[in-house]
Amino acid sequence: MSIITIHDKQFETYISAEEIQQKVKQIAEAINTDYAGKMPLFIPVLNGAFMFAADLFKYINIPAEVSFIKLASYKGMKSSGNVITAIGLDYDLYNRDVVIVEDIVDTGKTLNKFLPSLEHQQPASLKIAALLHKPEATIYPLSIAYTGFIIPNKFVVGYGLDYDGQGRNLKEIYQVI
Ligand code: IMP
Repeated sequence: MSIITIHDKQFETYISAEEIQQKVKQIAEAINTDYAGKMPLFIPVLNGAFMFAADLFKYINIPAEVSFIKLASYKGMKSSGNVITAIGLDYDLYNRDVVIVEDIVDTGKTLNKFLPSLEHQQPASLKIAALLHKPEATIYPLSIAYTGFIIPNKFVVGYGLDYDGQGRNLKEIYQVI
């Protein structure tokens, strides 16, 4: 068990690099099976998903494409609150099999508000692969097709996830103490 400090908080090792790699491989194998004969388009959400997406993509052995995006939020006209749209999505999603790649689903708000703009383009299918999920914190309805680890409602860093900009480079996932 190793303890690290980032800014004002202490974190302890929670998921080892080996466990992460094993899980990522399992998710890739499930996707390879489910999308056999198709050519999925992976859409990883920056910044957090960059490491998960890179490792996942290495284990994909069917024809596939990838397009990284950033999300931008603005106040919509409707009272339903913020609308979230993609920056950098240079693919037409019409009739494509799309897999959104996320680092973590916390409240679910980000994806819940973002998915309608993708559905609007009428993809053939639209699924979510999330490395981590905090079900206790999830208040926006969301269906996650591929989940790596179910974790408690505690802040984590590493393997792409940051605490105030830092910690993304860690190979393991750490949990706040
Ligand atoms: P949601 O919209 O509440 O599901 O939040 C999703 C985003 O919040 C993720 O893509 C992360 O960028 C960030 N996030 C949520 N929980 C954590 C955490 O424990 N550590 C680091 N980032 C987090």
